[in-house]
Amino acid sequence: MLCLKVATDGAWRAIAMREVDAVLRDHAQCELKAASNALSLAARYPGDRALVLALTDIAREEIEHFQRVVAALGARGRSCGAPTEDEYAAALRRAVAALPRSAGAATLVDRLLVAALIEARSCERFKLLAEGAAHLEGEAALASLWEELFAVEAQHYTTFVDLAVRASGDDRAGTASRLDRIAEIEARIVSELPLREPGLRAAIHG
Ligand SMILES: [Fe+2]
Ligand SMILES: [Fe+2]
Repeated sequence: MLCLKVATDGAWRAIAMREVDAVLRDHAQCELKAASNALSLAARYPGDRALVLALTDIAREEIEHFQRVVAALGARGRSCGAPTEDEYAAALRRAVAALPRSAGAATLVDRLLVAALIEARSCERFKLLAEGAAHLEGEAALASLWEELFAVEAQHYTTFVDLAVRASGDDRAGTASRLDRIAEIEARIVSELPLREPGLRAAIHG
């Protein structure tokens, strides 16, 4: 799946399918964090018009996703929960920040590649959720929401990788190799995340 080095553990889907409301609540927060991350990157590089436009397009789509997920929760008689810490994203950012890097645009390249990896993992899990929901009676609307998110987030993955190549000065080989290195780190983090108490484990990245 995209650049991922390890597939999600089958136990994750079993838990996520049992706790659909918890997954939706967690995912609503993920969409807000994705919008906020794109906006914070855009604010940091205001002079780069193409970057700012691409990132604000992504932020707008993430906000639309947030609203769709909140509506899906509402249709189930649920509301959006409080923000939770995304241990996965925090660990990935910490590990990548500690990697040796060259000067110049390297920080931006890494931030864009981290965003690409987070999109890739979300996509992999949306596919699992869509397949699972398709087999549940009365969950057709949810299955199509996951399918739709899968398609848009896959496009975000591509956009983030393309922006990283551009930020590197069109160094395709160098960016691909950096993406590969970050994907290895992501695979280790996702494999080491502990199984948590029921209810907390039902997270898109947890
Ligand atoms: Fe999204
Ligand atoms: Fe996204």
